[in-house]
Amino acid sequence: MTRHTFFATCAPGVESLLYAEVRALGLNRPEQQVGGVRFEGTLEDCWKANLWLRTAVRVLLRLERFHAPDEDALYQAVLAVDWSQHLSPGGTLWVDAQCKDSNLDHSRYVAQRVKDGVVDRLRTEDGTRPDVQREDPDLRLHLHLYRDRATLSLDSSGDSLHKRGWRRAQGIAPLAETLAAAVVLASGWDRRSPLIDPFCGSGTLLVEAALIAGDMAPGVFRKRFGFEGWPGHDAEAYAEVHAAATSAGALPRKLRLLGFDADRARVAEAQANLESAGLAQTCEIEVAQALEFAPRPGWNAWIVCNPPYGERLGDDKKLIPLYRDFGRLLRERCEGFSLALLSGNPDLAGRLALPDFERRTLQNGSIPCELILGRI
Ligand SMILES: C[S@@+](CC[C@H](N)C(=O)[O-])C[C@H]1O[C@@H](n2cnc3c(N)ncnc32)[C@H](O)[C@@H]1O
Repeated sequence: MTRHTFFATCAPGVESLLYAEVRALGLNRPEQQVGGVRFEGTLEDCWKANLWLRTAVRVLLRLERFHAPDEDALYQAVLAVDWSQHLSPGGTLWVDAQCKDSNLDHSRYVAQRVKDGVVDRLRTEDGTRPDVQREDPDLRLHLHLYRDRATLSLDSSGDSLHKRGWRRAQGIAPLAETLAAAVVLASGWDRRSPLIDPFCGSGTLLVEAALIAGDMAPGVFRKRFGFEGWPGHDAEAYAEVHAAATSAGALPRKLRLLGFDADRARVAEAQANLESAGLAQTCEIEVAQALEFAPRPGWNAWIVCNPPYGERLGDDKKLIPLYRDFGRLLRERCEGFSLALLSGNPDLAGRLALPDFERRTLQNGSIPCELILGRI
């Protein structure tokens, strides 16, 4: 099988966790970079990366690198690629672009010019014109432009990998599955002790924790990855890799995952999500106020959560007592427990009064978040 260079992207702040995952999966020559991890491998490695990496957002297969100081250089470089190898006649196409510190700085326009190059090349060659389609295209391209250096890649994931396929209910402010996995991995959870999310919302942290504990592949619930639309995709060989991932792992017998949420509707949503992931038996979810949580002394549990952080103006003031009292509950009644708490509001996070805890910055979409880690 031909070897390729891949770049698995992740949210800023998650790179070291993704790097550890890439290494654990045995992928070749991993290299941690800003925004992701580079590695080398075959298409089979690419399938595995998509099925198994928990914190990766996309797995990009590098096609070309070139200098693109202007629109024409970009267009000509795209036109020079033999696109018939990557898109079958009548196929559909989408292009994403990211520009930073470059002469060409309008990412939508850059994406448009890349699309023009692909379409023009295919039209002159075989007279067909691929349709542009945002949802589920046969080929999704990714153009990254940094200081006028372009990297053009095939997006082997298609849709973002946070869309695992198990989610039935969105909740109000669900954590992206990839970030939830990052929080659980960063918590240092031993995968055996009880894990508690007192603000569980739609249950994302609990589902991801169960998959981690069982060493189960997070990607097996998905209906489709981008590479399945590529010409010459070996569906038979992929089915074997998929079947191996589906049957891999098993939940530890005595695993205890507990979730609470004050809102009954959220609890129903968490239950629907856990059921859809086949994890309903593993987790106990209740309608309860986080402050009523009664920790058992000596339980050696992990508390992993993201409390509400007041996305709407004025909300954060109302949340001050919740953070202050939750911090007190942790300090006074959870001695010996471990904590991983993600907060998008540094002022509220400060009200927990846990000054000696480690703080990591993670990006949750457009919100810079603080992950507070430590033993209570
Ligand atoms: C940021 S959301 C958590 C999202 C969750 N991680 C997910 O992925 O869906 C915060 C959750 O805390 C819940 N909540 C707010 N105040 C609470 C309280 N006092 N006790 C328990 N849950 C509370 C909200 O109903 C909401 O579902």
